[in-house]
Amino acid sequence: MGANIVSPTLLSAYLAVVCLVFTLKEGYAFGRTPTVESYTIQVSSLLRCSSCTSATKALDKKSSLQVVDKHGPCSQLYQDKANIPTHAQILLQDEARVKSIHSKLAKDLGRSTNLDQTDAVSLPAKDGSVIGVGNYVVTVGLGTPKKDLTLIFDTGSHITWTQCQPCATSCYKQQDPIFNPSLSSTYSNISCTSPTCSSFTSATNNTPECTSTACAYDIHYGDESFSVGILAKDKLTLTPTDVIKDFLFGCGQNNQGFIGRAAGLIGLSRDKLSLTWQTASKYNKFFSYCLPSSCSSTGFLSFGNGGVSKSVKFTTMSTISQSPSFYGINITGISVGGQKLPISASVFSAAGAIIDSGTVITRLPRKAYLALRSEFRKLMSQYPMAQPDSKSILDTCYDFSNFSSVTLPAISFTFSGSVEVQLDATGVFYVNNISLACLAFAGNKNVTDFGIFGNTQQKTLQVVYDVAGGKLGFATGGCT
Ligand SMILES: *[C@@H]1O[C@H](CO)[C@@H](O)[C@H](O)[C@H]1NC(C)=O
Ligand SMILES: *[C@@H]1O[C@H](CO)[C@@H](O)[C@H](O)[C@H]1NC(C)=O
Ligand SMILES: *[C@@H]1O[C@H](CO)[C@@H](O)[C@H](O)[C@H]1NC(C)=O
Ligand SMILES: *[C@@H]1O[C@H](CO)[C@@H](O)[C@H](O)[C@H]1NC(C)=O
Ligand SMILES: *[C@@H]1O[C@H](CO)[C@@H](O)[C@H](O)[C@H]1NC(C)=O
Repeated sequence: MGANIVSPTLLSAYLAVVCLVFTLKEGYAFGRTPTVESYTIQVSSLLRCSSCTSATKALDKKSSLQVVDKHGPCSQLYQDKANIPTHAQILLQDEARVKSIHSKLAKDLGRSTNLDQTDAVSLPAKDGSVIGVGNYVVTVGLGTPKKDLTLIFDTGSHITWTQCQPCATSCYKQQDPIFNPSLSSTYSNISCTSPTCSSFTSATNNTPECTSTACAYDIHYGDESFSVGILAKDKLTLTPTDVIKDFLFGCGQNNQGFIGRAAGLIGLSRDKLSLTWQTASKYNKFFSYCLPSSCSSTGFLSFGNGGVSKSVKFTTMSTISQSPSFYGINITGISVGGQKLPISASVFSAAGAIIDSGTVITRLPRKAYLALRSEFRKLMSQYPMAQPDSKSILDTCYDFSNFSSVTLPAISFTFSGSVEVQLDATGVFYVNNISLACLAFAGNKNVTDFGIFGNTQQKTLQVVYDVAGGKLGFATGGCT
């Protein structure tokens, strides 16, 4: 099965010729969909963007919000370009997030967490709490009259929160005006004695510190960001026709950390408090998104099954029974350059995996990562490698400064049910600059650590979460 095996040198010579004519070379196997073996891309397309090219494109999908990279020019958050984190800082935050995910999972599964106290990355401030911060934002309206707020959306978080006036203790600097509950006619506090307050307690294992009148929440993230405030309800306007009355959210009075200039966060986890659950009767726990290919383009976040492409292929959404707020996914194989890597199924099943919108770099069982890295390096041997930063989790980097275009081996993932998903070319590298483009995968340290299918690899895919149906779907070319 699969395409002919060609030696790397022959393959590269062959590809160099073929790619003069075709952008994509497709290999056909009997009775299967064609698998792409490589793609040729302009090096300039990998570089950090300077302008937004498609933010004005109207969304034609029903119940959809526009998704943009928090730090890019399509986002309103960083118009002055100040305080944009460096790639190294983003990777460090990503490592903190992954540690908090791994430690929450290990704790829920009753394993010892065995965290390395000497690591540069700080440990989760509150073990077992919800998990930190992703890098894609959407804009929603809150209150009556509605005020626009740009929020990070995160499938790893349960509760939605925003900074609230009067910022009794502290608010960080955000781009939008800070939400003022006293100006909204539909705002109400959740009282300490209400069932909602106690259900929050049981969902988060947090004992709410009941102030005289209000039910308090306290969320600490893996990267030491936090939001503390009172639980409240108000009208949430997703689109002019998608309005959710009495939406439960956190009105943050003490907020700090790496949220950036976003006004807060939308929680989309598999959890009772999340937006997904709160809108279950309207959207049947069904949402989908497409993360844009670069920060100069836009994607979408869509609720309900209205805009789902016909080409979406579905795999089983697995449940991690002791830690059900995560979206489990079963990886069964990885292909590089059209060839399936020789990784035994038990390597993937020993740990299990989740899909996450907020983790930047996909984490794999170490054995799987080493197989991927080795094949990728072989097929990329015509390009000079570059020395990564010694502290970086990324260890396979290239210097493309002498190239205007490069030919990459295609990478695809197979999920349970033989669902093969081809990653976009933009889902392969994490690019610092033209002389440091790194393979955007990392190996887990411990064989029992969960794999995480992260957001770099999800770029331009339509990713569908059919929670009620227990399915996750993928289609390529999802943002167009
Ligand atoms: C791997 O994790 C298990 C369970 O959490 C732990 O008992 C073990 O010590 C860890 N092994 C290594 C090498 O860190
Ligand atoms: C909500 O609770 C806070 C804190 O107790 C209080 O200051 C505020 O006036 C309350 N707002 C409403 C609308 O009840
Ligand atoms: C997914 O993996 C888990 C854990 O390895 C296993 O229990 C489950 O049966 C798998 N599900 C499918 C659909 O393969
Ligand atoms: C780029 O090409 C120049 C001139 O041939 C050479 O000196 C330099 O080492 C090359 N750089 C890399 C990173 O390969
Ligand atoms: C690329 O980024 C690396 C790491 O941040 C830096 O050391 C190097 O000087 C940069 N190279 C260029 C050409 O900007």
